[in-house]
Amino acid sequence: MNFDTPALNQFVEARLNRRTFLRNTTVLAGTTWGGHRSIYAEATPSSFNEVERGKDAYLHVPAGYRADVLIRWGDPLLADAALFDPLSQSGASQSQQFGYNNDFVAYLPLPSGSACSDHGLLCVNHEFTNARDMFPPHKYSPEQMIEVEMAAHGHSVLEVTRKSGQWRLVPRSAYSRRIDARTPISISGPAAGHIRLRTQQDPAGTTVLGTLSNCGGGVTPWGSVLSAEEHFQLYFHGNSGDGGNEVGNHLRYGVGKITAYNWSLTHPRFRIGAHPTESNRFGWVVEIDPYNPRSVPVKRTALGRFSHEAATCVHNPDGRVVVYMGDDREMEYIYRYVSRAVDRRDQPDTRDHLLDDGELSVAKFDDTGLDWIPLVFGSGPLTPAHGFHSQADVLIETRRAADLLHATPMDRPEDIETNPLTDTVFVLLTGNSNRSSATVGGPNPRQRNGAGHIIELHPPGGDHCAQRFDWRITVMCGDPNTDQSAGRYSKSTSRNGWFSSPDNCTFDNQGRIWIASDASPLAQFDNGAWIMHIDPTTREVHSRHFLRCPRGAELCGPAFTPDNATLFAAIQHPGAEPGASYDAPTTRWPDFNPLLPPRP
Ligand code: FEO
Ligand code: CA
Repeated sequence: MNFDTPALNQFVEARLNRRTFLRNTTVLAGTTWGGHRSIYAEATPSSFNEVERGKDAYLHVPAGYRADVLIRWGDPLLADAALFDPLSQSGASQSQQFGYNNDFVAYLPLPSGSACSDHGLLCVNHEFTNARDMFPPHKYSPEQMIEVEMAAHGHSVLEVTRKSGQWRLVPRSAYSRRIDARTPISISGPAAGHIRLRTQQDPAGTTVLGTLSNCGGGVTPWGSVLSAEEHFQLYFHGNSGDGGNEVGNHLRYGVGKITAYNWSLTHPRFRIGAHPTESNRFGWVVEIDPYNPRSVPVKRTALGRFSHEAATCVHNPDGRVVVYMGDDREMEYIYRYVSRAVDRRDQPDTRDHLLDDGELSVAKFDDTGLDWIPLVFGSGPLTPAHGFHSQADVLIETRRAADLLHATPMDRPEDIETNPLTDTVFVLLTGNSNRSSATVGGPNPRQRNGAGHIIELHPPGGDHCAQRFDWRITVMCGDPNTDQSAGRYSKSTSRNGWFSSPDNCTFDNQGRIWIASDASPLAQFDNGAWIMHIDPTTREVHSRHFLRCPRGAELCGPAFTPDNATLFAAIQHPGAEPGASYDAPTTRWPDFNPLLPPRP
């Protein structure tokens, strides 16, 4: 989510640019391309005719590629789901349909552990809802809208197959699943059961109703999905000052600062004053086992509490499991979790514990490298003198603990992904317009960083558990031809090839990085996907425009099948632009039916 999205800001009047029809487009792009398998990370980009930069209602991929819609908001997912009808939505119908605003996407092959590229599970986050674009004016009561919104959040599991080059949802699949803002979810790890996680509804502090603001994520070595709870603070109503013992905590996380939802109207647990600990039960990483539809999702508190974006898992050479995570707010931090035990594939029962028992640390950069500073109760300032009485306190107030350890404030860390062929860790910093001259430097070198940048972290000898890494800047993003926030790309990069506001990324099986952008809807050009090549000698970056979103949308996911023939892409919040309305959207992608709203 970009904080400039209309859901959170005053809408500015803008002329609509509506055209009538085109075709059903997107969510996946087809056809394989060639290319030699290379030991080099960022091998030469494949040849395709770049998509033109621009802004319109449609989705664009290069000639020779095809984009098909696999599933849209409201499409039936569970066995008895109703067909989508924007005039008769309910919490009950939505809870059986695909959710709203798809963000993270993972493709997990069937059977589990195979490399099958024709049959698998798609695991998709549903980050937030936007009532303006979902509901016809005056059609629904606030109570009805709240129930639909809560059921449209969370996560979907879909079974999909490819036949004759065409992907289809498997109807009535036993794997189909919806997890939403009301689903019972377990709490595990050091903060489970802690008094600060207990509520009137859950006096044990071990079961939460729902997951919120599910943004990025990751896949574990054992085939579960990690879903990152991001801007959970937006769901709570009241003043930070009403939070009793949690006032300082609420202030640090912005709980009570901006409220984007009115759910407290019918669900009192979202009222800060009456339920000051409820917000402590959000802002975690949630583990979901998509292969077992009856499994209970688990909030893994050992991974810390903040506005989680990525949760990228790496198997360290010694067998320990490492998770890289970013806190997606301006001037927040980059984190790493390392499991205490090694992952034993031959002892599957022990794997459940790997994300509960380990060390969380935070990145502190200097000019020559970065140190991972452990967030461990009792060490350094993380003591009762500073209000920490246990590791649970450290985890619940991860941000304040990291403040005390002088971690390096970053320019909004979004996705973090590791190149599977080189161990280089890429961190996408989407921007920070508040970066001042006083805080410029090191890995955040641009004042008022509107366009964002990408940095690389280099674990020494491929040891992701090392205490110290090297780092360097990969690319400063933005239009190379403007004065402010000018991007730095190779001269061979075309007018379509530069990008700004990098958000998500993925690697194909040649080790090439694909960038997805999330620039403000006020930006001149639509968001999309670019393939990026880093010259191994000159370090120049050459990127090429592969996919362009319909206006108002950000591109999320994206994820390849193992054979690279398909890129699954999530088109989030199409038409979410200033000045649009339900009756006059700026796009009706993907249906282009005058009776239907735009559908993520
Ligand atoms: Fe939900 Fe960090 O974007
Ligand atoms: Ca994001």
